[in-house]
Amino acid sequence: MANQELLNKLNDSLNREVSTFLRYMLQGALIKGAEWEAVRQMYLAEVADEVGHAQYLASKIVMLGGTPSLNPDLTPPPNDVKTMLQNDIAEEQADVVGYTELAELAEAEGLIDLKMKMEEQAADEAAHAENMQRLLG
Ligand SMILES: [Fe+2]
Ligand SMILES: [Fe+2]
Repeated sequence: MANQELLNKLNDSLNREVSTFLRYMLQGALIKGAEWEAVRQMYLAEVADEVGHAQYLASKIVMLGGTPSLNPDLTPPPNDVKTMLQNDIAEEQADVVGYTELAELAEAEGLIDLKMKMEEQAADEAAHAENMQRLLG
C-alpha cells in the first residue's frame, strides 16, 4: 500500500472535486438572466472537467491500495453570482496549492505518472480560476 499521507491527501482532493462538480452543476441550474449566461455556461462546461479529476483520483486511490471514501460538502451555493465567482476562484486557487503539494508527495514516492497528473490538474484549476476572474471583471 502507498504512503498513508499520500492516500489521505488524494482522498481529500477527491472529496473537494466531488463537492465542486455538485456545486457547479447546481450553480449552472440556479443562475438566471442574460447578463450571467456566460457564467452559467462556464459552470456547466466545468462540471465535466471536475468529474474527470474525481474519476482519476478515485481510480488512483484504488490502484495504490486505498479505498475511496466520499463525504462531500453539500453547503448550498450563494444566491449572488458575483459571490459564487469570488468563492469559486478562492476554491480553485486552493486546489492549485493542493495539487502542487500532491505532485511533490508523489515525486517523493517515485510515482512519476501521478506527479505529472497532479501538475496537470493544478494547471486545469489555475485555468478555471483565470476564466472566472475574467467573467468577474
Ligand atoms: Fe478539479
Ligand atoms: Fe476547477
